[in-house]
Amino acid sequence: MITRIEIDGFKSFENFALDLPPFLVLIGTNASGKSNLLDAVTFVATTATRGVDAAVAEVRGDPRGLFRRRGDGNRVDRMRFALEILLPGRLSHLCRYELDLVWAEPVGAIEGIVAERQRIVRLGPESSLRWASAVGVAAEGLRPWPVPLKAGHVIDLTGMPPVIGSGATKPEQARAELENLANTLLHSPSRPGTDVERADETILAGVWQELNLVRFLHLEAGALRRTSELGGPSRMDATGRDLPNYLRSLMLRTASDNRPLGVVGDIKMHLTGLVREISDFTVDKDDRRRDVRLEFFSPYEQRLDAEFASDGTLRMLAILASLHDDGVVAVEEPENGVFPERLRQLLNLARGLVTDLRQSVEDDGRDNTAWHRQAIFTSHSPVVLDAVPYENIAFLDMTTVIEDGVPSRVSRVRRLREDAGPVRVAGERWPRVTDSELDRFRAGVEEPV
Ligand SMILES: Nc1ncnc2c1ncn2[C@@H]1O[C@H](COP(=O)(O)OP(=O)(O)OP(=O)(O)O)[C@@H](O)[C@H]1O
Ligand SMILES: [Mg+2]
Repeated sequence: MITRIEIDGFKSFENFALDLPPFLVLIGTNASGKSNLLDAVTFVATTATRGVDAAVAEVRGDPRGLFRRRGDGNRVDRMRFALEILLPGRLSHLCRYELDLVWAEPVGAIEGIVAERQRIVRLGPESSLRWASAVGVAAEGLRPWPVPLKAGHVIDLTGMPPVIGSGATKPEQARAELENLANTLLHSPSRPGTDVERADETILAGVWQELNLVRFLHLEAGALRRTSELGGPSRMDATGRDLPNYLRSLMLRTASDNRPLGVVGDIKMHLTGLVREISDFTVDKDDRRRDVRLEFFSPYEQRLDAEFASDGTLRMLAILASLHDDGVVAVEEPENGVFPERLRQLLNLARGLVTDLRQSVEDDGRDNTAWHRQAIFTSHSPVVLDAVPYENIAFLDMTTVIEDGVPSRVSRVRRLREDAGPVRVAGERWPRVTDSELDRFRAGVEEPV
């Protein structure tokens, strides 16, 4: 779970910080920075797992354009990011991944983005207490780290191209470490040979996997409708392409003797609850055609190919599927194509499906070693504003900052939680959103400039 993001110099962000609860909706009008924030999360996650080049190739915008443009038209030359992460097992020490990227124009070489510094810092237990109080989750749900690891210890990854995935740890080593992650951390703290390096490797594998599980969804009906190639990608891309393969892989990964469909059984239950025109769906592998396809069933007609299913049905299915998977999912504008009442239901479901830190580890019923589930949505819908408790909302808009006498427009974020003691929580430099601002947003009226 990503507990905090700090961004400086990327797109519209200047000294930006936001603590993230397990379920968060980013609300704001057009061009307030909602998508920029999701871009930042995916950009850092991709850089950390697959390298700068892959991240630059996949992000919205050209490489130089990613650097913040100031009011005078000049761009900054440095982007700084930090992601704080709660690893599985609910251990109370957070890990902080820091990445500094610069724009380099070396003489005689090609210009581009270069990783100047990257490292992981083990934070002390006070970090998770601060986070728990900032986002309103119960700190009792967290447990002390069983290994006496030194807080503040730094794992320096600078100069290890191309970053954590294949540089510091080989992928197969990372995977092996991962399988042992919970055991290493939880059950054998004093195993002979457990030393700082071993703990470092484990943390590295954990952070790598956490970032590898980040999924970004900006769904397009055309992509959702398509069949998957047998043996093709088992993850959906951002547009929702390969939804059939994704559902099939979720099913195979989570199936057991008494639950042959695994979580797909739950997804069916939720989808038919949301869309009453659908009574079932199947994910069928066709060996002759070498594809995997979705088929829907309605209480009225017999069968419906995915090609003829409604846009909203497919969108809800893709979002539900992703909510039943581990790690962080970021979803753009769930309101698109979804009827308000169903949207409210969908958001309620989402809130119930993320990791609940109010429950004790024992009551949670989920495996300790399981990855946390987290969901971040963007929206400019008043329906969403009223369907989600204030504690799960962050409000984005643009504001003016003065740097060296030059005014620049930057994104700011404010939480809506009324009970949060101090108005200016660490990293949140702005006052609380006023009721009249919210009323204007509900009425769909712009703020006066
Ligand atoms: N490099 C940059 N420097 C400064 N500002 C930038 C930069 N790149 C993008 N922006 C700002 O970010 C805005 C776009 O923000 P974003 O795409 O996050 O909007 P959004 O909140 O998702 O809006 P919508 O609801 O329309 O999708 C642009 O209008 C521009 O003002
Ligand atoms: Mg957007």
